[in-house]
Amino acid sequence: MVKVSLVAPTAPLAGDAVVIGLLRSPDGPRLAPGAAPVDAALGGKLLAALKTAGASGKADEVVKVPTLGLAPFPLVVSAGLGTDGSAEALRRGVGAALRGLTGKRHVHLAIDGPLDALAEGAQLGAYAFTEYKSKATKPALAKVTIAAASDATARAHLKHAQAVSDAVLFVRDLVNTPPNDLYPATFAERAVARASAAGLEVEVLDERGLKRGRFGGILAVGGGSARGPRLVRITYRPAKPQAKVALVGKGITFDSGGLNIKTANMHWMKSDMGGAAAVIASVLAIAALKIPVEVTATVPMAENMPSGTAYRPSDVLTMRNGRTVEVADTDAEGRLVLADAVIRAVEDEPDYLIEASTLTGAQLVALGTRVIGAMGEPVWRDQVTAAGNAAGEAVWAMPIPAELRPALDSPIADLQSLTGDRWGGMLVGAAFIGDFVPEGIPWVHLDIAGPAWNLGGPHGYTPKGGTGAAVRTITAAVAGLVS
Ligand code: BES
Ligand code: ZN
Ligand code: MN
Repeated sequence: MVKVSLVAPTAPLAGDAVVIGLLRSPDGPRLAPGAAPVDAALGGKLLAALKTAGASGKADEVVKVPTLGLAPFPLVVSAGLGTDGSAEALRRGVGAALRGLTGKRHVHLAIDGPLDALAEGAQLGAYAFTEYKSKATKPALAKVTIAAASDATARAHLKHAQAVSDAVLFVRDLVNTPPNDLYPATFAERAVARASAAGLEVEVLDERGLKRGRFGGILAVGGGSARGPRLVRITYRPAKPQAKVALVGKGITFDSGGLNIKTANMHWMKSDMGGAAAVIASVLAIAALKIPVEVTATVPMAENMPSGTAYRPSDVLTMRNGRTVEVADTDAEGRLVLADAVIRAVEDEPDYLIEASTLTGAQLVALGTRVIGAMGEPVWRDQVTAAGNAAGEAVWAMPIPAELRPALDSPIADLQSLTGDRWGGMLVGAAFIGDFVPEGIPWVHLDIAGPAWNLGGPHGYTPKGGTGAAVRTITAAVAGLVS
């Protein structure tokens, strides 16, 4: 991850490129606060030059102006901030600017604003996944500087940005790693390596442990793959916790659909462990920030494959708590591994539960590719939604209509995995999971099917591929529990 440091606002400007903000207004573009020294170095002609180059200040716009030897830096980059100049607009603007500066060594930000947002924009925007390129790519950006006084608050903002960005980028790396290299055993290894290095408690159940623990859902879904399932638990235990939070995330390392094999979008399904990665990384961020809340991530990992040992539609599974589920369709596998994980997570008697999963295609139908759906106990759901929105992620609260649970009654088992129709598919997933949460535990289910993976072109600080969705929402929601 690129290193971000502060330089005194009075220090001479330096860098391979200097980024300024450009705001949009009815009277045309305006230089955002912080650009004055850059403008002065260019004889007060910066805005005119940007207008000549066609800059308008709209969000995601990046315009580059060479300084032709007139200034001690060769390039000015204008980042469009739109009309509001909000923290998220800064994050996106800086992210978009940094995405377009691959190959530079030192980039300086001449923008005044919340330092955590500026640093996050830079760190998230400068990300590239080059693991699988056989030839060396352009060297990564080495240094970002921001003009700001280095006081205790400023340093705390940078630390916050570092912890959050580091977690988001860990998720992107995990999601981008191809499923022939990232399968339950290796996913567990990578999670354990990071957690142990951070001094966290870890526990891994392999197939024997899962059998002993009667995790019937995880064993069934993982049974079709030559690569056996796992259950990983990672705990951060601060000295004086003010609350205890259970995190659960779907860790399907590849979702072929199983015997109900997918006929569309199968290549997308390497992202089906995005929820698992998000909750694991959130524990790392919460620990790095020393937030006084005890958190445990409980993560089922399995590969959903068709084979002679695969589970079947119409199988009846017995979950860890003895409840039986009739399998309607082997492609609705997420809720089966999550049921077992939720059952295990609530055995610790947490005060709150957050579960994040790439659960349904219906999330994309309802909310599009970028908006996380939040469902669960209404007060906690709204608290988590607000925390996520404040942290810059788009989260929208959705209901769990009362008629859905009876629609999951099975003629032969305690419940079935789907209703008889396809309406409100995202809400049905939430109703199913909610059935495994005991009365009295505030819980929320975050459906990140679309948001976890960017199928389209890069935008703001978001690259193509893995995005790191839900980390900022979860971290902010947990931080919000501290008085
Ligand atoms: N992993 C998918 C959901 C998904 C879809 C994630 C698109 C990311 C992008 C899930 O396991 C699945 O297959 N869901 C099915 C459920 C259906 C069988 C009721 C779906 O949404 O089509
Ligand atoms: Zn899936
Ligand atoms: Mn599926």
